[in-house]
Amino acid sequence: MILVTGGTGLVGAHLLYHLLLENDSVKAIHRKNSDLQAVKNVFSYYSSDFEVVFKRIEWIETDITDVYLLEKSFENVTEVYHSAALVSFNPKDYKEMRKINIEGTSNIVNFCIDKKVKKLCFVSSIATIDKAIGAKIIDETCERNAENNNYGYAITKYGAEMEVWRASQEGVEVIIVNPGVILGAGFWNNGGPGELFTKIHNGLKFYSEGITAFVSVGDVVKTMLLLMKSTIKNERYILVSENVSFKEVFFQIADGFSKKRPSIRVTKFMSSVGWRLEKIKSILTGKPPLLTKQSSQSIHNKHYYSSKKIKMALNFEFESISKTIKRVCKLYDN
Ligand SMILES: NC(=O)c1ccc[n+]([C@@H]2O[C@H](COP(=O)([O-])OP(=O)(O)OC[C@H]3O[C@@H](n4cnc5c(N)ncnc54)[C@H](OP(=O)(O)O)[C@@H]3O)[C@@H](O)[C@H]2O)c1
Repeated sequence: MILVTGGTGLVGAHLLYHLLLENDSVKAIHRKNSDLQAVKNVFSYYSSDFEVVFKRIEWIETDITDVYLLEKSFENVTEVYHSAALVSFNPKDYKEMRKINIEGTSNIVNFCIDKKVKKLCFVSSIATIDKAIGAKIIDETCERNAENNNYGYAITKYGAEMEVWRASQEGVEVIIVNPGVILGAGFWNNGGPGELFTKIHNGLKFYSEGITAFVSVGDVVKTMLLLMKSTIKNERYILVSENVSFKEVFFQIADGFSKKRPSIRVTKFMSSVGWRLEKIKSILTGKPPLLTKQSSQSIHNKHYYSSKKIKMALNFEFESISKTIKRVCKLYDN
């Protein structure tokens, strides 16, 4: 029996669909206020029979921070895909991110050990890996540098990875994947990368020239499944199709919608003013800021990541980002 956490999120929903194609028994956890309709929407991109496929999931209402409720979901579980996390650039969310990302993962790990789960796949992030001094390209040999201006999300995802390595020491086979920015259909308004499509569709005017790694949700899910089915264990893999500028990605999305391309290049000065104004607005309105100090800096970084390790391990070819964007734009209008 397979257990999925985060099944009501972008990665988890696509993962559930692919798992159900190959497996009879799949359990997924959801919280009281999770949007299960969003999962159905994702399934509808794959098949007109999506209701039938969706009904095959055994849903369990729980929270990864609630050990009592969580234990029930581990009954007869042999494999776990742990994708649940709080993803936020807002410093106000740091405490909650520690609770969900580190403590929540620790709970998952403890039950994996206790219930003798065979294999655990954890969805981490490239945010946990820093550029080694003098290195141009970031790969799995690069470590997190605690002296960097690390932000809450990176710290807590790294803390979660440490918990997962603990599982490997206690006899659970583990796989950690570190995807770049994940592009995929669905979740158009939840603050994740899906919202980028919505913003550009609605006429976003700004772009930056920072560079980072992008990957399609389909490739994230495919590599996770292949790694879990393989004999590979206790390894981590960067998942990246291409290192591309935000400008290039934004322009391609605008083209995919036949909309006007964003035309205002955000300078470092503009974003440093922007996050301060957003901070004041957030204090006055109580609403989360659209831009934080960290996110305003990260849009200017130029980081390049290598996917050589996963390509070699699985003989895997990633879909090009332009192909992914074209497909996602088409599904947006569905
Ligand atoms: N999106 C990206 O670009 C990206 C890039 C690299 C790595 N990642 C990693 O990939 C994973 C999935 O990301 P995503 O984009 O799919 O995120 P997402 O759409 O925000 O989904 C997050 C999922 O985690 C669940 N969750 C959060 N707190 C929980 C809790 N306390 N108990 C149980 N479930 C909880 C959410 O449930 P609810 O529906 O109840 O909120 C949702 O199912 C995360 O671990 C993230 O760090 C994402």
